[in-house]
Amino acid sequence: MRSVKKEIEFTEYDTLQDLINSDQLLLNAAIEIAHTAYAPYSNFKVGAAILLANGEVVIGNNQENIAYPSGLCAERVAIFHAGATHPNESISTIAIYAESDVMPVDTAISPCGACRQAIMEYRQKQTTPIRVILKPQQGKIWVFECISDLLPYAFDLKGLKKPN
Ligand code: THU
Repeated sequence: MRSVKKEIEFTEYDTLQDLINSDQLLLNAAIEIAHTAYAPYSNFKVGAAILLANGEVVIGNNQENIAYPSGLCAERVAIFHAGATHPNESISTIAIYAESDVMPVDTAISPCGACRQAIMEYRQKQTTPIRVILKPQQGKIWVFECISDLLPYAFDLKGLKKPN
């Protein structure tokens, strides 16, 4: 018997200007699209911007519904948007931003379990990692080198996938 420890590493930045240029641009796209989120019930607006390997950016924001579970998080709106419109393009990075005018958002909001699982599907579909950038309205920015850092030991039963 032995105990096994897994460590998670990420980089913390104080300001948006400290990021590399391409990350700044992606985060700005996430910030912009957060403003038009449809979040009348939570007043918590989230924007997600995805950088594809071909340089294109695909965006999404949270879409709520009066029947609460029918709504969808920004991350899944964005990743499904990317999957639908660019099915053969690898995903390099997803930037996620959250804001609210009714509560402080001062620590990075990290994707819910369902969104981590949805992003992980695309990671398993491609050979390269998917970086994750998280920015709260105010506060430090966190950069993870791969979605697998946020979903360690993800379910990946190769036998479930039909060979191409
Ligand atoms: N939400 C997201 O869009 N992304 C997250 O990572 C967490 C939560 C949305 C869902 C809902 O519209 C609102 O934020 C409050 O939970």
